Amino acid sequence: MFYHAAPAGRARIIKGHPFAGRMERVVISLGGSIINPEERDGEFLNQLSSLLRKFAQDHEIYVVCGGGKIARYYINTGRELNASEDQLDELGIGATRLNARLLQLALGNVAEGTIPHTIEEAAEQGRKGIIVVMGGTTPGHTTDGVSAALAERVGAARIVNATAVDGVYSDDPWKVKDAKKIHHMTFQQLLDMLGDGHGAGRSGVFDPMGADIALRCRIPVLVIAGRDLEEMSQAIRGGPIKGTIIDG
Ligand code: UTP
Repeated sequence: MFYHAAPAGRARIIKGHPFAGRMERVVISLGGSIINPEERDGEFLNQLSSLLRKFAQDHEIYVVCGGGKIARYYINTGRELNASEDQLDELGIGATRLNARLLQLALGNVAEGTIPHTIEEAAEQGRKGIIVVMGGTTPGHTTDGVSAALAERVGAARIVNATAVDGVYSDDPWKVKDAKKIHHMTFQQLLDMLGDGHGAGRSGVFDPMGADIALRCRIPVLVIAGRDLEEMSQAIRGGPIKGTIIDG
């Protein structure tokens, strides 16, 4: 017996389904800028939800939402108020959960009505056969790190890092005009890149804690433009993509 996320209804149990016991698990690290871009865009969240519902028929889907500009607003304001780093992280986590709740609302009855606060709670929700949507967990890292820890916990086939840029670049593409997109790189190359002192402002790169976990568990990370839903479909399936594949 196992659970199947029904496209138009709450998760239901289907006995003897051909995918029983071997549904691929995919964790999506959904950047905050994808959920709340400059202009309000509920239509995009509806389209993304339709796509996720479709994939949930034969995949276990876990989405970890970033905080984006809402997190930055609270963190920057909290810093002016002399809050501690842990308190600022708590504000950021609150923003990620607010974004997660918005996506949950768009998903309707194929997602739970509560946000898991821990990796264990997320894994528990995943066992119900619904789409799991969460934000941050504890202070000290970002939602990329949460995505990698969750991917390790549930044995995910891949992590899709859906960001504002369409892959990893040789330099910050917002600042360097002829920055080149890197189509394939190893985790070691990513860690070297993050460690070379240029990582902080580099958009679209997975965070160091997440990269460490993904390297240890050999879970590929696919970095894609999160608002390109065709690219999102390809990445959930495992490629080919226009973005960057990090593995090895
Ligand atoms: P994000 O994951 O959105 O951070 O979490 P980010 O990678 O800096 O932002 P994006 O990817 O560009 O949107 C927002 C903030 O929330 C706190 C951190 O302060 C982080 O910068 N946070 C988040 C935690 O402390 N723990 C978590 O598990 C998640």
